[in-house]
Amino acid sequence: MASTHDTAARGAQVLVASNRGPVSYTVGEDGSLHSKRGGGGLVSGLSAIGPEAGALWVCSALSDGDREAVRRGVGEEGVRMLPIPADVHADAYNGIANSVLWFIHHLLYQTPLEPAFDAEFRRQWASYEMYNRAFAEALAQEAGQGAAVLVQDYHLCLVPGMLRGLRPDLRIGHFSHTPWAPVDYFGLLPQDIREQLVRGMLGADRLGFLTHRWAAAFSACVQATDLELAPRMGQAGVPESFQSVPGWKGPGHRTWIAVHSLGADAEFLRERSHRPDVEERIAALREEIGGEGRRTIVRVDRTELSKNIVRGLLAYRQLLDDHPEWHERVVHIAFAYPSRQDLAVYRDYTAEVARLSAEINERYGTPGWTPVLLNLEDDFARSLAAYRLADVALVNPIRDGMNLVAKEVPVVSDEGCALVLSREAGAYWELGEDAIVVNPYDILETARALHEALTMKPEERAERAKRLAAAGTALPPAQWFLDQLTALRDLQPS
Ligand code: G6P
Repeated sequence: MASTHDTAARGAQVLVASNRGPVSYTVGEDGSLHSKRGGGGLVSGLSAIGPEAGALWVCSALSDGDREAVRRGVGEEGVRMLPIPADVHADAYNGIANSVLWFIHHLLYQTPLEPAFDAEFRRQWASYEMYNRAFAEALAQEAGQGAAVLVQDYHLCLVPGMLRGLRPDLRIGHFSHTPWAPVDYFGLLPQDIREQLVRGMLGADRLGFLTHRWAAAFSACVQATDLELAPRMGQAGVPESFQSVPGWKGPGHRTWIAVHSLGADAEFLRERSHRPDVEERIAALREEIGGEGRRTIVRVDRTELSKNIVRGLLAYRQLLDDHPEWHERVVHIAFAYPSRQDLAVYRDYTAEVARLSAEINERYGTPGWTPVLLNLEDDFARSLAAYRLADVALVNPIRDGMNLVAKEVPVVSDEGCALVLSREAGAYWELGEDAIVVNPYDILETARALHEALTMKPEERAERAKRLAAAGTALPPAQWFLDQLTALRDLQPS
């Protein structure tokens, strides 16, 4: 067996760790394995450093197909899937990551009844620790001496601290793709859990967030957790780093807090949205929209509770109530793709989206006009077709780390769309000036914003869309990734 030293000498120099990896497997009826590749910022980021960089992506086996692939030793070069037992994964992913941490960072609890941190929560938390430990151990085993490790998201908050304990030589980064909770909301968590999360994160050398707002929220939570860490103040009174007291993770370990916004990939979107499959879907959608010159309000989301699809529909219903002149003249094309359907609350939410859409169609629809076209099946080409036809893009999340749809629709829309945007989306900080900004809880305000967007003069709309597209594509995914990698490598030892 190779010693730890030999492994480190041969190991990868760039490692990415995330719950969901770039590839997934299904078992066919004849027992054969089929693989499917996913997209996203990390995939383009890693392709930007090229195969010669010898990067390794450590992810979790998520399905029976994935676990079967691991068992058979099937896999892609540069990807290591961890065969975490299904029950441990379910507790960590559904139980803690999606039902607790996601709710905390997006302010989703109905607090009279929840959360209730009971014995079941503690049992699931033990699985979350186990799952994070499995990642830390795999990374420790695979990383070359002094390698850069980029850990992703709320699923893996404990990994940086655990990994530093195992391999103090590594450069460890962590990136949050979500918002971070405000102090009082973070305070719903039991004290020891808060401490574990904060200490876990601060095991990193560098913590990345999508906006200053989320970075500041994290820093405020660190300060409120009272861990005797020395902050070094940066601009606008927000700490730029925290230094641990000697005795914890060695003397003087410093964690830098950084902001890396993420933009849309203009080149990819422009090319992809003009392929024949998208053109076909444009023709089909036009057919469904019907009516000469009908306007479109487009939204594209995964059906996550934080996306606020139901209030979006309520606002659209209000628009039709307040402005009968829009009857027969506008269609709301809503894409609500399935997400996290293992959780009852997500299934119920999807059902409510379908129920309300049907109710609106029932109440206002005519033989030649369906006011809401709801799409529940994932079809990327069809969403791009809707992007191209969009007169108005509706992006109204309760809270969102960034929201790339807000950045993508203005790039792709043929005529340049107007954007109705929640002030609670990370994208608001870059797009707020040219969007029509709304409080996501205010139905009447959102209805007024939709009316304003629909009546915006074509020249103004086109001008604004141009500026939105420029702002939204300033930091493409490859650059987002490379900036973080470079910054992590350039850190001076503290
Ligand atoms: C959203 C969030 C990401 C998160 C992902 C997980 O896209 O912005 O921060 O990693 O959801 O989704 P999943 O389908 O894996 O639960």
